[in-house]
Amino acid sequence: MGLLAVAGWIYMGNEDEVRTLRQMAGLVTPMALRVAVTLGLPDRLRAAGPVPADSAPASSAASSEAATVAHLAAELDVDPTALELLLGHLTTLGVVERAGPGYRTTDFGAHLCADAGNGLHNLLHHDTAAGRADLAFVDLAHSVRTGEPAYPLRYGQDFWADLADQPHLREAFDRQMTWRIKDRIPQYVEAVDWSRFNKIVDVGGGPGDLLAAVLAANPDICAHLVDLEVGPAQQNFAELGDRAEATQGSFFAPLPADGDAYLLFNILHDWDDEQCHRILARCVEAMSATARLIVVESIRGMGASTEMDLVMLVHFGGQERSVQEFEKLAEPHGLRLTGVTEVADDRCVLEFRKHPI
Ligand SMILES: C[S@@+](CC[C@H](N)C(=O)[O-])C[C@H]1O[C@@H](n2cnc3c(N)ncnc32)[C@H](O)[C@@H]1O
Repeated sequence: MGLLAVAGWIYMGNEDEVRTLRQMAGLVTPMALRVAVTLGLPDRLRAAGPVPADSAPASSAASSEAATVAHLAAELDVDPTALELLLGHLTTLGVVERAGPGYRTTDFGAHLCADAGNGLHNLLHHDTAAGRADLAFVDLAHSVRTGEPAYPLRYGQDFWADLADQPHLREAFDRQMTWRIKDRIPQYVEAVDWSRFNKIVDVGGGPGDLLAAVLAANPDICAHLVDLEVGPAQQNFAELGDRAEATQGSFFAPLPADGDAYLLFNILHDWDDEQCHRILARCVEAMSATARLIVVESIRGMGASTEMDLVMLVHFGGQERSVQEFEKLAEPHGLRLTGVTEVADDRCVLEFRKHPI
C-alpha cells in the first residue's frame, strides 16, 4: 500500500470517528422522539391509520400532502410546517412512514405507543416524571461544576417536591418504579432469605411491589412501608390484610422501631453522601442490636451504568456507588457489611448488621 493510500485510510478512519462522535452528541433525534411521544404521534398515526386528506383537492398530490399534515396540525394545535419537518425526521428514523397522502406509524415506531407495555412512553413524554426530569440535562454543566442536581435550577424546586405538587408526575414515577422491576421481582424474592425476619420496614418503599411479593411468598412476615406517598402501596397491600401497613412519612424523621430488617431499595443512589448519612442514621437509630439493614442498589464496578450515574446527578444530586463506597458510608454508623448477593440485573443486595457491642 502506498503512503498516500495509508494516509487516506487513516483520514477516513478519523472521519468515521468524527461522524460517530457527532452522532453521539446530537440532540436532534432524542428530542424529536420525545416530542413525537409528547404529541402522541405514534399513537395517533397508528390508531387512525393515515390521516385522511379530506380537505385536500383531489387533483394535486403535493397540495393533498400539505392538506393532510395541515389536518393533523390543526388537530394537535401545532404549526403545520414544523410538524411536516418533524414527521420528515421521524420518517428518516423509521418511526413513521408515508402512507398514501399521510403518514402512519411503523412497527418500529409502535414501540413508542402509550400501550406498548415497555415503559418507554412513560420515560420519554415531557409531562411524565422521568421525561420532564431528563430535560434538565441541558444544565448538566451546572451539575458538573457544582455537584448539585440540575433539576431545581430548571424547575425551581427539587424532584420530590414537584412530585408532591403534581399528582400526575407522582403517578408516572410510581408506574416507572413498578415497571422497571416487575419482571425481576421473583429474583429479588429469591436473592434474600427473607423468612429470617418477623417484620420488614421498607424505607422509601414507593409502590411496595417488592415488599408485597416478599410477603406473599413468606406468610409469617409482616411489614411497614414508609414513604412520602403511600397510596399505591396501600392498594398493593390490600390483600395482605393487617400484615402490611404503609404510612406517609419521611426517612429523615424517626422510623418505626419494631423491625428486624430495614430495607433501602433504590434509595441511597438518589442522594449525596451527606443525605445518605442522615438516612442511615435514621435506620440505625430504629434498628435493634440484631436487626439487619438490606440495601439494594446498582453497584458501580458490578454493572451499574455510567449513564445512570449522570441521571442520578442531574435529577437528584445522587450517584451509583461501589461496594467499598457503601461500606465507607455505613462504617460511621457502626454498620458492618456481611454479604453481597448479585441479582440478575446490575443490582446487588448488600446486607449490613450493627457491630456487636
Ligand atoms: C427511586 S424510588 C424507590 C421506590 C422503591 N423503594 C422501589 O424501589 O420501588 C425512591 C422513593 O423514595 C421516596 N422518598 C423520597 N424522599 C423521601 C423522604 N424524604 N422520605 C421518605 N421517602 C422518600 C420517594 O417517594 C420514592 O418512592
